[in-house]
Amino acid sequence: MTASELTLHSALQLLNSPIKIPLLGFGVYDSHTEVCIASIQTALKSGYRHIDTAHPRRSYGNEEEVGRAILSSGVSRSELFITSKIRVPADGAQDHYSSILESIQKIDPGPEGYVDLFLIHSPKPPTNVRMRVWFALERLLAERRVKSIGVSNWDVSRIEEMKTWGKRDGAVWPPMVNQIELHPFCQQKEIVSYCHTHNIAIEAYCPIVRNQRANDPTLCSLAEKYRVSTPQILIRYCLQKNWVALVKSDTPKRIVENSDVYGFELTGEDMRLLDGLNEGAAGAIVWAVRK
Ligand SMILES: NC(=O)c1ccc[n+]([C@@H]2O[C@H](COP(=O)([O-])OP(=O)(O)OC[C@H]3O[C@@H](n4cnc5c(N)ncnc54)[C@H](OP(=O)(O)O)[C@@H]3O)[C@@H](O)[C@H]2O)c1
Repeated sequence: MTASELTLHSALQLLNSPIKIPLLGFGVYDSHTEVCIASIQTALKSGYRHIDTAHPRRSYGNEEEVGRAILSSGVSRSELFITSKIRVPADGAQDHYSSILESIQKIDPGPEGYVDLFLIHSPKPPTNVRMRVWFALERLLAERRVKSIGVSNWDVSRIEEMKTWGKRDGAVWPPMVNQIELHPFCQQKEIVSYCHTHNIAIEAYCPIVRNQRANDPTLCSLAEKYRVSTPQILIRYCLQKNWVALVKSDTPKRIVENSDVYGFELTGEDMRLLDGLNEGAAGAIVWAVRK
């Protein structure tokens, strides 16, 4: 797909799978209760078809809200792409399969409910725990309760290590998706290049840097040139990189604005200008890269 062909319906084909991920996603990090439901409804009315949530720990805990928003939206489940994630405790004592199934049931209740993509949220737990969670995901994939599986915040060594996890029926390698922090100020070139080589779809979280770089001179000059906002420049940058852009807002006007990124195209020269803003790990805002 070329940059000029991008539309609100553009999607990425996943490796070894019939599944396609919509390139524009709506994140619901730190969005709660009725606000979360209202934001999702606004997003669906604006044309987003992809929602990114996570299981109930820390700042998400809104899988149930996602389920309620879907039910009340009138949009058919088959038109939607829903992602959730499991963050496992380091002791690995819990039953990962049941815990993931519980998440699925909150989002899409009923015996045939499913989630389109399930990710292991963090690379932090020890190898044996990450391995057992991955096996639970492989089992749920075989049972069609998840349509695709992947990881988040994993570096090259973690993904390579998965190759040593032994022969088994239904083994999946590489993971279909890696969700990481990505924007011009933090480009994570090593893992991005590795994912490209292995056809692992790349999802960009914090794509607008939580609006913390709104005063950056390069961003401001591009926003002026294209007569759009700086978040729109950043979202368009991701889409033209062929990264899934997961952008969050609880402000109705911004939700609409962030999906209005198909009326302009960044030139190759302007993409290179944005590439030049990379600060490496220092440009990241989330622990996973700054560590
Ligand atoms: N896998 C992981 O470890 C991980 C980590 C972080 C995030 N994520 C995912 O990625 C999604 C996006 O990341 P994020 O929420 O951290 O950051 P983000 O999307 O880069 O930024 C969201 C912030 O920017 C503000 N904002 C949104 N649109 C704006 C606009 N047009 N103008 C000005 N400000 C605007 C929002 O405020 P308002 O809400 O007040 O409008 C919110 O504070 C998350 O929701 C989550 O789904 C995943």
